[in-house]
Amino acid sequence: MKIFQISDIHIGNINQKTHGVDTRKNFLKVLEYSKDIKFDRYLISGDLAFREPSKNIYKWIKTRLDRFEHRYHIIPGNHDDSKLLSEVFNVETINSKEIFYHEVYKYYLLIFLDTSNSRISSKQLKRIKELANIYTDKKIVLFMHHPPVKTGCKYMDIKYQLLNQNDFWKEIKEIQNISQIFSGHQHCDKEISINKINVYVAPSTFFQINCDLEYFEVASYNIGYRIINIAKNSITSYVNYLSSGEK
Ligand SMILES: [Fe+2]
Repeated sequence: MKIFQISDIHIGNINQKTHGVDTRKNFLKVLEYSKDIKFDRYLISGDLAFREPSKNIYKWIKTRLDRFEHRYHIIPGNHDDSKLLSEVFNVETINSKEIFYHEVYKYYLLIFLDTSNSRISSKQLKRIKELANIYTDKKIVLFMHHPPVKTGCKYMDIKYQLLNQNDFWKEIKEIQNISQIFSGHQHCDKEISINKINVYVAPSTFFQINCDLEYFEVASYNIGYRIINIAKNSITSYVNYLSSGEK
């Protein structure tokens, strides 16, 4: 199964200024581009909204995605409202508050998480462990907006990290079969390995951040995406950029 991951699209309200970048146009551009690529599903990995989420923004995104034949997975980011998102996209939740759902795909258990308040809740961690105990023969792949670890992207690691990373690692320590974690949020492209788990960060379609600096600076306005290839014995992934987003 091949997943086309689009992240941090940051769609504003009509006529809302989004730092001089037409984020709607960028999103449509990457969707259009994806027509030439063979894949099975989209993953929209959080921060669908620019700053303040709204039903109109989510509906606009949904209408665009529905024009394509591919299934899509949605997870929320820190600029999203999980309740609203789950209503518009009809996504499963825990107590209609936190988005949480899973899917067994061949040799894998795919789990989609909610870190919209910049934390991973104990409820979700408990559910991950429960699922891991049921599907002991599956490799687990987690999808979450925030990478649960410092990635080396200095500004984002310092200012906007997942706040309870220690809870995350403490709770999942007992789970042997987590193989990959796919995230976004940091507006850059990273791949790191920690405790035998590969953590991937997908670039944004908005702008990329200069990861070498402790303060904010845009590195480029190129539109990024990640392809995730889930095969029987391995998961591989790569990032690509469309030449130029617009400024
Ligand atoms: Fe984010």
